[in-house]
Amino acid sequence: MKNTVLTMQEQKVNHEKISMLTAYDYSTAKLMDEAGINALLVGDSLGMVMLGYEDTLSVTMEDMIHHSRAVARGAKEAFVVTDMPFMSYHVSISDAVYNAGRLIKEGNAAAVKLEGGAEFSKTVEAITRASIPVMGHIGLTPQSINAFGGFKVQGKTKEAAKKILKDALALEKAGAFAIVLEAIPADLAALITKKLTIPTIGIGAGNQTDGQVLVYQDMLGMYGDLQPKFVKRYAELGKNMTTAIQLYKEEIQQEQFPASEHTFSIAPEIIEALEK
Ligand code: KIV
Ligand code: NA
Repeated sequence: MKNTVLTMQEQKVNHEKISMLTAYDYSTAKLMDEAGINALLVGDSLGMVMLGYEDTLSVTMEDMIHHSRAVARGAKEAFVVTDMPFMSYHVSISDAVYNAGRLIKEGNAAAVKLEGGAEFSKTVEAITRASIPVMGHIGLTPQSINAFGGFKVQGKTKEAAKKILKDALALEKAGAFAIVLEAIPADLAALITKKLTIPTIGIGAGNQTDGQVLVYQDMLGMYGDLQPKFVKRYAELGKNMTTAIQLYKEEIQQEQFPASEHTFSIAPEIIEALEK
């Protein structure tokens, strides 16, 4: 059965933790869906892990739609949430509603996610009014990297912690169905999770949130040497891939690949006749 916003809400109420991973393509989405992951995030992190940019700022609506459609095809049960890219919801509320609509209509997402707190209340309200579920995202919001001056833990001072709590409450009031809490102290995330009736999904926010999300290349050991503290590597697929690719190259050089079982044959007399 397809997971929906209601499934997530029930999971919070029943204290069943929500599992979420990023996905950017059909075959990976299908693997995650079959493994029983509850929700897939087509994150704008795709700019970094799939397209090789240094940050998420240059990701376009077209990029998001293209990857979102592929993920949606692979997600039979998982709930698909697609990120609104930088500048697709900042200029005007009508832009924001229009672009959110494109991620649903063209990207086949079931919900959208946008970064920001109270200052985006009106935007979240307007998108929600168009019957598009909105997931909030506060704490470390990577689209604000230039404003933050780098990727840093947020909400460590009293003022900053208070602002993040206020933002969470404002997003819930504006109609968000869930909120991602990124790189904030665990006790602050726990407090927010208690105060909200909607689910919280943590990344670098401790284990008291209603769910967890990670970028899959990070948790499978496929992306770079950069290793945020909050990532746990569940596999070393990058190393496995390199080993397999090197073996492939060697076997080509040594004429061990392809072997007879990978090869098509023809009656020898046909070749003999052609040789004459
Ligand atoms: O783009 C992304 O992958 C995200 C998650 C890390 C929450 O926004
Ligand atoms: Na994102």
